[in-house]
Amino acid sequence: MELIDGNQIAATLIAELKADIATIAGRKPCLALVRVGEDPASVSYVRKKEKTAEEIGVTSRIILPPIDISQEELFKLIDSLNADAGVDGILVQSPLPKHIDEVAVFRRVAPEKDVDGFNTINLGKVAQEDDTGFVACTPAGIMELLARSGVDLKGKHVVVLGRSLIVGKPIALLALQKRAGANGTVTICHSGTANLPALTRQADVLVAAIGRPEFVTADMVKPGAVVIDVGINRVPDATKKTGYRLTGDVHFPSVAPLTSKITPVPGGVGPMTVAMLMKNTVKAYRLRR
Ligand code: GUN
Repeated sequence: MELIDGNQIAATLIAELKADIATIAGRKPCLALVRVGEDPASVSYVRKKEKTAEEIGVTSRIILPPIDISQEELFKLIDSLNADAGVDGILVQSPLPKHIDEVAVFRRVAPEKDVDGFNTINLGKVAQEDDTGFVACTPAGIMELLARSGVDLKGKHVVVLGRSLIVGKPIALLALQKRAGANGTVTICHSGTANLPALTRQADVLVAAIGRPEFVTADMVKPGAVVIDVGINRVPDATKKTGYRLTGDVHFPSVAPLTSKITPVPGGVGPMTVAMLMKNTVKAYRLRR
């Protein structure tokens, strides 16, 4: 078993981006980060995005509307960022409060500033294999992790566990694309799939993105499979200073010894998401110049 080190691969990418940004004269790329409310995971993710931006020379603008902001007001805020010539990328952190239609908000972000890749146009471009768009950061990060760990999906059975807009659907489309590193045979499963273990056991590459702590157990994994754990779950743990521990969607202690390669949580997919966000922001900046 080999651990796929997301921290190390993301650090390489970040260093490449930093060197690239250093060559830019004048105005630097600018990323607007919108966080509504105080969801603890969102607070920590947005802080991490802000810190990484600063580290590589991307300007960030943090916008923290009140938790009771109306959908209309949030639309107005996004419209103003869309129209702002000094802003290259816009990210609205998910989850949003329940009174707001999240997908409508994602649609409101101008496609050319949609560094999250959740806008209809950019999701459509993934389906059309059109590289002028933005690929959602977590799925893009997974493809990069696989490529940089020497995993070619060609001819492999890729089983995606989870059908979210943020991970499940776009990673399935990417794995399926007709291009080097991809060309996988893809099955998408979810919480309603009958006889799930029989399907996941067929996976040469298993992508777990179902959002349930330690859901994937040893009986669900084929020996020698590559396992990508996208989950970041906070599980109460009184022995920790924070009162919780982070765990993935995979029961790591029993599954890892079976695998040929596996991503840990934390330190696997998570750091890649942030690196790809920075990559998308630089791409948006260059496309708008
Ligand atoms: N919440 C969890 N992952 C993401 C992401 O990639 N982008 C945004 N905007 N919110 C998220």
